[in-house]
Amino acid sequence: MLILGIDTSCDDTSAALLDVEGPAVNVVSNVISSQFEIHKKYGGIVPELASRRHLEMIWPVVREALGGTGIEGLSAIAVCKGPGLIGSLLVGASFGKSVCFSKGIPLVGVNHLEGHILSAFLEGAGPGFPFLSLIVSGGHTSLYMVEGFRKKFRELGRSRDDAAGEAYDKVAKLLGLGYPGGPKIDALSREGDPKSIRFPRAYLPGTYDFSFSGLKTAVVNFLRDHPGPADERNRDVAASFQAAVIDVLVRKCEWAIRETGVRRLSVSGGVASNSALKERMRGMAEKRGVELFIPSPVFCTDNAAMIAFAGYHHLLASETEGPDLNPRAYLPL
Ligand code: KG4
Ligand code: ZN
Repeated sequence: MLILGIDTSCDDTSAALLDVEGPAVNVVSNVISSQFEIHKKYGGIVPELASRRHLEMIWPVVREALGGTGIEGLSAIAVCKGPGLIGSLLVGASFGKSVCFSKGIPLVGVNHLEGHILSAFLEGAGPGFPFLSLIVSGGHTSLYMVEGFRKKFRELGRSRDDAAGEAYDKVAKLLGLGYPGGPKIDALSREGDPKSIRFPRAYLPGTYDFSFSGLKTAVVNFLRDHPGPADERNRDVAASFQAAVIDVLVRKCEWAIRETGVRRLSVSGGVASNSALKERMRGMAEKRGVELFIPSPVFCTDNAAMIAFAGYHHLLASETEGPDLNPRAYLPL
């Protein structure tokens, strides 16, 4: 069964072709057109520019993802219907709707977070159910109990303020590292001492919620109080900030594993491609006898293959959408 996935939730235009037969998943193509060059001079994503670029890129990206496959050969088109930037979402959703209704192909709407959770299934059999799923991206930091495909996701906790990736991006900006900050802090941290500055960790005991805005403020205050030579200081700030984020993420997963007894964990979203986070999660998983699933970096960050895979499961259950599909900026899972 061939499914075309489309994700235009934020700043990357992505289309993917998935060939799914029973449990076998083959990612035939996963094309991602980055808007990095457009937004970098603003230090963050400019929503209006993002949607205009999606408009320009949607057809070339879809055409490349399809390769030689004709649209008539598709079993369905799955589009991301939120959460995300509304102007960006509208481009992918409108494109999917028009192609589906002009060609008589089923249309499936997929929640972006469902895509991130199911990215654990794109490179192998994936975890058995139930499993714990931590999403750490630029827009979300949430922990779920996943009991099956298609909406069988129970939120255990979420960030009360900034997402982990957002904190990475803001701290990178403070350090003058540019956008997107996550990979830059990841690299700079390797040269710094993670124990040199004791930044706060918001564990919020008794909940699986997260909070990263206090940490960000602590970095602002530290930089104000330590104007010294930026090079060495920034390496230590990056490493110590990252250590604080990772301590909280790993510890919370450890609590959830202990309290629920579930010994399978997936970590996805852009921040899951962080090298230090992966290493710490692997160490914790080994110590606790937990099966750990972290997708390759290209499936951690936003991609349409995860949307196509989630769409496949909705299609199997005949959960298709009509021309009234409307994407939403805020869309609970
Ligand atoms: O999942 P994603 O591509 O988009 C959203 O759905 O938000 O995640 C993007 C976020 C950005 O905040 C980016 O800085 C962060 O993921 N990120 C990283 C790394 N690579 C991307 N954060 C830390 N370390 C990385 N290596
Ligand atoms: Zn995402």
